[in-house]
Amino acid sequence: MSHPAPTDPSSPGPPPEAVAPLMRSLSVLRELAARGGRQAVGDLVRGTELARSTVDRVLSTLARLGYVRTEGRDAVLTPRLLELGNAYLAASELPDRLGPLADRLADELDESVSLAVPDGDGVRFVHQATRRRAMSLAFRIGDLLPAERGAPGALFAAAWDSDDWRRWRRRRAADPTDAGFPAVPPRPAADAPAAPDEASGGDFEARVAAARTACWSQDDQLIEPGLVAVAVPVRDPAGRTVCAVSVVSHTSRLSADELREAVLPRLRETVAAMEYVLGAPPAADAGADPVAAHASWMRASKQELGPEFVESMARGLITLTAFGGGRAALSLTAVAKATGLARATARRALITLEHLGYLATDGKLFRLTPKVLELGFAHLSGLTLPAIAQPHLAALVERVHDSASMAVLSGDDILYVARVPTVRIMSVNITLGTRFPAHATSMGRVLLADLPPAELSARLALVHLEPLTRHTLTDPHRLMATLETVRADGYALVDEELEEGLRSLAVPVRDRTGRVVAAVNVSTHAARCTPQEAREAILPALREAAADIEADLRVAGRYVRIPTV
Ligand code: PHB
Repeated sequence: MSHPAPTDPSSPGPPPEAVAPLMRSLSVLRELAARGGRQAVGDLVRGTELARSTVDRVLSTLARLGYVRTEGRDAVLTPRLLELGNAYLAASELPDRLGPLADRLADELDESVSLAVPDGDGVRFVHQATRRRAMSLAFRIGDLLPAERGAPGALFAAAWDSDDWRRWRRRRAADPTDAGFPAVPPRPAADAPAAPDEASGGDFEARVAAARTACWSQDDQLIEPGLVAVAVPVRDPAGRTVCAVSVVSHTSRLSADELREAVLPRLRETVAAMEYVLGAPPAADAGADPVAAHASWMRASKQELGPEFVESMARGLITLTAFGGGRAALSLTAVAKATGLARATARRALITLEHLGYLATDGKLFRLTPKVLELGFAHLSGLTLPAIAQPHLAALVERVHDSASMAVLSGDDILYVARVPTVRIMSVNITLGTRFPAHATSMGRVLLADLPPAELSARLALVHLEPLTRHTLTDPHRLMATLETVRADGYALVDEELEEGLRSLAVPVRDRTGRVVAAVNVSTHAARCTPQEAREAILPALREAAADIEADLRVAGRYVRIPTV
């Protein structure tokens, strides 16, 4: 049905055409993903069993692609890498087409609803409509469950053949605690006194048989105590199960049987609507150039790229980004065209990626598999806006030698959510969580300037504009006029209005819809130079930092809502 894991001892070695540097780069990415997105380079060498010089070359090529950065001795995955998983999700069309129906069901039932797809003998999440309840663990997009733990697996296993079952048994024997599935708590040993029957795995086959007849499957605390779920398969017009929709609850609210009785009819209606949506023709090719984002290094000369840059690795990896919405199935010719690779080279990249399980083929057309999501998607899609911003603020501080911060609007205040200090120039110490009145700060003005005019007027009518220094603007009409200038200029400069001697410049950070979600600033001594000099010295670097954060946010926010705090 699908591909053996490359770690499976019974799986064949790489085909002779495989591109070794591409395989090495993927093993580095997998290792980093398995370590929570960050690892010391020395440990990476041990974990991948590659030579130090090889790891260095892989890391510098990945850094040039924007997929990894180094921080001291650590290599760190960057949000940009999410573009690989995004390519799979866009090509599958499942989150785009079915996600809104899943979200609606979650709203109606006030329970979490998820979409998951089969991935080998596992189940991988591709969409989550999560209710914020702290009682049980919530899976992230990209997380993998063993098929036998959780509701969707039994639905998928209904289509397994004897080879699939053999592989499942082998995996269970080789990994008795589910260590290969870091998203789930360890499986209790079969002979542990408190172990459910399921620990032996014997129950799974019976559940699969029942699921095949009933067309639903339930999870009665197979993953952790308290967590219950019911799932129904979604089939394409050819009758193949393409994904499962699960409704998830907790035994403190409902037992597994109560949940099933309460939600199955509504769940089935949603699935019928989903199957109708899947019957519509697939999206047209958006026509966008999928690899345009990599144009800068693709155009660069070998000399510019340096001896550490391994082109076969870079071009092989971005082969994955040739796929996407409207480009779910591509021929060798189409891939060669999209990536600028010679046919023979593109063919070797495709063969390598297929061998590793990231592509499936019918011999003619290639498709991405959900396994692409194992390349850091779950970890990176969980990043918050401040975490995304932090390395960019650090790079900004390196350039301008003054402190940089990020803040969001919170009532009439700004709230600091990220900060990289240099020397302290303010008498008050700013830490995360610090609040200042929005009207007297550069970040506050940038944030206020983006509010809809009616909301802004309403706020200014209510707020008392307190003078914090003798320079603070306290006249609402003058503040309104200043905000118009801020909106037109795309930045705010505030001189000694919050504190004597303090000057601050701020620009907005916009999400993929263009909405201002945060502001970033640099604060400096007012006495050091004129406002005009400060603008010239700081604004270009500040704008670049904001643009870099926005670029990450565009990739990271494609399928996930990124929290701003
Ligand atoms: C989930 O979406 O979190 C989920 C789905 C199915 C399960 C358990 C949890 O069986």
